[in-house]
Amino acid sequence: MKVLDAEFAQGFFRMCGDGFDQGWHERNGGNLSYRMKPEEVEEVKDDLGTYEGSVQDGTWQEIGTEVPALADEYFMVTGSGKYMRNVKIAPQDNVSIIHVDSTGTKFSIVWGLNKGGRPTSELPTHLMNLEVLKKRDSEIRVVYHCHPTNIIALTYVLPEDSEIFTREIWEMATECPVVFPKGLGVLPWMVCGGKEIGVATSKLMAKQDFVIWSQHGAFACGHDFDETFGLMHTVEKAAEVLLKVMAVTDRKRQTIEPDEFRDLSRAFNIPFDERFLYEKTPGARIGER
Ligand code: 13P
Ligand code: ZN
Repeated sequence: MKVLDAEFAQGFFRMCGDGFDQGWHERNGGNLSYRMKPEEVEEVKDDLGTYEGSVQDGTWQEIGTEVPALADEYFMVTGSGKYMRNVKIAPQDNVSIIHVDSTGTKFSIVWGLNKGGRPTSELPTHLMNLEVLKKRDSEIRVVYHCHPTNIIALTYVLPEDSEIFTREIWEMATECPVVFPKGLGVLPWMVCGGKEIGVATSKLMAKQDFVIWSQHGAFACGHDFDETFGLMHTVEKAAEVLLKVMAVTDRKRQTIEPDEFRDLSRAFNIPFDERFLYEKTPGARIGER
């Protein structure tokens, strides 16, 4: 089967367009990766290859970090500097499939990027996340990075603190703790595109499904494209509600209280991390404990 016709590839391309439609991918902002299932590799193997003189020339390039637990696996990843809005119309020019070598330190492009290029500059973070996620749950396969406006705006006005961020966002929609019961990780501003931010992000991703990069964007993971996109959408929507509330007041008249979250947790039979259900000081302003 051709890669372009495979169901996983179509889901990947659709998600790129959906993210663009939400306004989360200005210019080349954001990137997406997917750890292919062995049967999906098998399904498209005749369409993977090496072609002399093209980017699929069989050379091995440094990942820039080590991901031994991903040795010999295949990934679909967006290209660096490519625009998400173009993926749907020309996936073969904007997306690649890479093969990670047996040491987990190098990759080779085996499909796509037909007009040249290389995988996303955030490849170290994507692969390090996919590695810790595979150890956590071998069916988590999708890692998504985008630049969602409201989440980014909040990183200028809330403390860069996972507990406060999670709690303030949870209070903005009843579904939030049900969708991300392990809360949000938050990193302070760091230089992007390298190993150091990948190490820091994957440390959080080892326990949580969502990491905010202050003054930059966010990372979400999931078992499939729907779940991952839905998680990003849920957090971003709640961030928008929070900013609207903050635009008119610095104190809420009423909100969802810790014991109400506990009732919800029991009703849905999902444990919510108690770290986020701290008692607030009466009269505390939004973003204060
Ligand atoms: P790439 O174009 O290299 O994927 O980078 C976009 C981005 O969002 C960097 O954080
Ligand atoms: Zn980015």
